[in-house]
Amino acid sequence: MSFQNPAQSPQLETSSLGSEPKADALEGRDRHVILHVSDLHFGPPFAPHVGEELLKVAEILDPSLVVVSGDLTQRATRSQFEEAKAFLDRLPAVPRIVVPGNHDVPLYRVLERLRTPHKLYREIISDDLNPVLRVPGATLVGLDSTNPRQAISNGRLRKRQMDACAEIFRTAPPEDVRIVVTHHHLAQAPDALNDRTLRGANMAMKRFIEMGVEIVLGGHLHRAFIGSSLDFFFGSHRDRGVTVVQSGTSTSRRGRGRERERNSFNLIEVSRDQLVVTHFLLFEADGHFGPISRHVFPRHGRRLPPPAAVSC
Ligand SMILES: [Fe+2]
Repeated sequence: MSFQNPAQSPQLETSSLGSEPKADALEGRDRHVILHVSDLHFGPPFAPHVGEELLKVAEILDPSLVVVSGDLTQRATRSQFEEAKAFLDRLPAVPRIVVPGNHDVPLYRVLERLRTPHKLYREIISDDLNPVLRVPGATLVGLDSTNPRQAISNGRLRKRQMDACAEIFRTAPPEDVRIVVTHHHLAQAPDALNDRTLRGANMAMKRFIEMGVEIVLGGHLHRAFIGSSLDFFFGSHRDRGVTVVQSGTSTSRRGRGRERERNSFNLIEVSRDQLVVTHFLLFEADGHFGPISRHVFPRHGRRLPPPAAVSC
């Protein structure tokens, strides 16, 4: 591998973009490195050689947390879930949060989809569709955004989920970074493909901002998008948005748009003052994942330090 492991580096190297500051290096509980993968799609679209590359790079990056934002399978069969489970168990053995995607409910087994849509997911992956992960310095809430009884592909978040989420964050330590994980996207990617966001996305984002959420992690689009909620919805908090981190499909042949037939994942470094999101792409030339862009956001209430060449 040709890139340095930022998780083990005392300071991030200045980005090749030229104007990013060096990351503050915090010790221990205030710093997290999150490996964010999505849309594994075990079944015919799964690319085994890409899966092996992902496992290799995941070990090198040495994350402190792993997030899997849905679509573990293509058709929600027992064998596909079992293969996905075996793969998850080979990822770094750190605290992990997983949510289901719309492909994790049986599309064509209609009775099962209507009566017990998450039966196999619950049995094989996790019984908890809205998992909560509390680790020192971070509280993560996973929200099941699937809507198997009313929609095949589009998602939704229910009021009771949002209320439960608000209560979890209300009681979390104030210094914790607050992170939400859903499968469906709350923001459209800024390309021309126009995938509809889940119903009530702007209202959900407004509530997340009020809850002090700093990052929303998702998938579903099969291409990466990293930005701020303020880019598309500024609501009543123009100085405090949510960092939106979408992952492409990490291991399948279902990439779309700029990531058609390509694979990607994200690495999110959370420190006291800033969030650094690095987008990794599988490069065809050598068959390895490598960083393709890096995005730096200030933590709530903080500012980024000026570029090294500027004195303010
Ligand atoms: Fe997907």
